[in-house]
Amino acid sequence: MDILKERILQEGRALSETVLKVDSFLNHGVDARLMYDIGTYFKEYYKNHGITKIFTIESSGIAPTVMTAMQMELPMVTLKKQSSKILNGDVYQTTVHSFTKGSDYELTLSKKYISPEDNILVIDDFLANGEAALGAIRLIEEAGAKVGGIGIVIEKSFQPGRAILDEKGYDVYSLARIGKLGKGIIEFI
Ligand code: G4P
Repeated sequence: MDILKERILQEGRALSETVLKVDSFLNHGVDARLMYDIGTYFKEYYKNHGITKIFTIESSGIAPTVMTAMQMELPMVTLKKQSSKILNGDVYQTTVHSFTKGSDYELTLSKKYISPEDNILVIDDFLANGEAALGAIRLIEEAGAKVGGIGIVIEKSFQPGRAILDEKGYDVYSLARIGKLGKGIIEFI
């Protein structure tokens, strides 16, 4: 997606060889017009995949996912990050480790918002190690539903997430794929 890549080159800052800061349009400031255009791309790619619902993970995945859900006219669900286990039978939960943040959280989905007939598109802002996406997949599959695709705004292709999801056979579509980061270096593949 060329306009996204241009924004990354203009406004993104590589903080290290692994972390890209895009606070001006995705993670802090949010460019709603760009989010709308991102929704157009996800709709175009996934429109014939029989998707029934779109899931995301709080919080930066919400903006691009709202725009996609609106354009695909599908229900959206935000998976919550709880700090501890909920001890009743009303939710599915799985522990996710964030390598970037060095902490764990309980990814949580109320049983009300999924059924075995669902075919779910998962959208997130970044794909790094794939831990968040794999957590979402575990919840969906535990509910007996299908993962219809994984839509990513910015993929860091040099980290393991993409390869892991490909190897497991999921249909991953990333709008910008970064091959290399470094001081003053942002390269796409
Ligand atoms: P993973 O799910 O692919 O394994 O990624 P990881 O745990 O390493 O990422 C943890 C958090 O850091 C996620 O946000 C992810 O979006 C974000 N992240 C990972 N790499 C980058 C990066 O290079 N730049 C930026 N800006 N963010 C990155 P989160 O904890 O879910 O927070 P939120 O922003 O969605 O609230």
